[in-house]
Amino acid sequence: MTKTENTIEVKKLTKKFKKFTAVDSISFDVKKGEIFGFLGPNGAGKSTTIRMLTTLLTPTSGTAMVEGHDIKKDQNEVRKRIGLVAEKIILYNHLSAMENLEFFGKLNHLSKDEIKKRSERWIERLGMEEWKDAQASTYSTGMKQRINIVRALLTEPDILFLDEPTLGLDPQTTFMIRTFIQELNKKGITIILTTHDMIEAEALSDRVAIIDHGKIQALDTVENLKKKVENKKNPTLEDVFLQVTGLDIRDKRGKAKRAGGPPWRGGGENRVR
Ligand SMILES: Nc1ncnc2c1ncn2[C@@H]1O[C@H](COP(=O)(O)OP(=O)(O)O)[C@@H](O)[C@H]1O
Ligand SMILES: [Mg+2]
Repeated sequence: MTKTENTIEVKKLTKKFKKFTAVDSISFDVKKGEIFGFLGPNGAGKSTTIRMLTTLLTPTSGTAMVEGHDIKKDQNEVRKRIGLVAEKIILYNHLSAMENLEFFGKLNHLSKDEIKKRSERWIERLGMEEWKDAQASTYSTGMKQRINIVRALLTEPDILFLDEPTLGLDPQTTFMIRTFIQELNKKGITIILTTHDMIEAEALSDRVAIIDHGKIQALDTVENLKKKVENKKNPTLEDVFLQVTGLDIRDKRGKAKRAGGPPWRGGGENRVR
């Protein structure tokens, strides 16, 4: 099945922090029902983009529509349709999983019954039932992240944003979360996933956008991106990524530090477009 209907339309979206441009006039669409991978090195502008699309941050210029609603003008309509698993886990340590979920559910005007029903369903699926009444302070990072995901699902969103959901987790939890993301997608939820894990991006994404220095440098299916890699047999997504973004290591501001001579860098004419 090809997915053609746009659920998110981003046009020239820009975010400046004082004089620094973190997101530089990016435009792209996300199709209804797809898993859209948003890849980029540290400081590329992934989280800033996600924060604008989820109405947490006001764009400096440009627009984006989420299911036909403007992220600047119709924030409440946008919020009703989306869930966000943010980069930083937001849980109250002195509350249990269930208490945390009740708190966040009530902020979203859900009834106690709805919160309980929805929470228990996902808690069970994510293997957290034994822990649901224990204080969050006793949870591992992987357990906290699973509750964080349940929290994002409480409002039954059509679109789920996940900002590096498996960063720093052990392989078992990572596997569980990846499988779960695919399951949610099969139920019809559109997924926007940021990661710098190439295996994750390749395994999950229908299409991938590679962002660097606040700009989209490449956007296509993984298969098509690989076709554009030069001077390499059987290229991987990592080859694509390195050819698009280069080998320089980024500092916190996303500025490049020279890491020696990448063979394909130089002119820029070899870059994947
Ligand atoms: N609130 C802020 N104030 C100033 N600079 C910011 C702020 N948020 C992000 N940045 C900068 O914007 C750039 C993009 O950040 P971010 O979107 O978090 O990157 P990514 O998620 O791709 O690693 C980085 O250089 C970061 O330091
Ligand atoms: Mg980030």
